[in-house]
Amino acid sequence: MNNNHLNDCPDWRYLLMECYELYRHLDSGGSDLIRSHQRKVREAISRTMKANPEITIDNIADKPVTKHLKRALDEGKIHSHFSVIRSFESISDRLNWQYGYEKMPRALENKYAYAEICGPHGPVISDEVILGVVLFAPGCVYPSHAHDGITESYICLSGSVSENHQGVYSPGSMIFNPPSHTHRITVSRLEPALLLYAWVGEQDNLKKQEMVFSRKKQDKKLKPSDK
Ligand SMILES: [Fe+2]
Repeated sequence: MNNNHLNDCPDWRYLLMECYELYRHLDSGGSDLIRSHQRKVREAISRTMKANPEITIDNIADKPVTKHLKRALDEGKIHSHFSVIRSFESISDRLNWQYGYEKMPRALENKYAYAEICGPHGPVISDEVILGVVLFAPGCVYPSHAHDGITESYICLSGSVSENHQGVYSPGSMIFNPPSHTHRITVSRLEPALLLYAWVGEQDNLKKQEMVFSRKKQDKKLKPSDK
């Protein structure tokens, strides 16, 4: 176990700064709703940084899909947000890659994992915002899920994905999912995809997002804690 505070860990602080800047510079495409979400994420990151929170690195774990991480990072560096990739790379050996499922669907075992950067469960402790990354292998199909009480955005850092067959998102694109919006993600067959995600909502709703979740039997959607 390694407990420290944000100001003692410049790599983590720079990464939060880069995430803040990403949410400042991304164009909202004229959407008031998305602009407001971006502001909420920025304000939450800013308050988190000012609080100089604890950093808890209790577990470091890989998953099979992390064999694709180097390729995803290399590909992401050729785009305008390369500084986010670069700062992410500096902490990438201290991440806890997780599935989040109680029972992992066989088809996803080698093709998906997520790692949290900031949130109630750390590594950077915050009850204001959850930030993390999700990594998909080429050809991954990520099942339908929704997040009750949580507004979510994905920013594509590398590769390309589609959500609900409604458009293709490449590096620099943002996907916005209002609370309870059901979404399913498909990934390019050629390259892995790395997405940054941010969740904002009431503190109780953020805390409620368990690390372990399972599929609902009746409609095969995932519980809200899925990424
Ligand atoms: Fe999601």
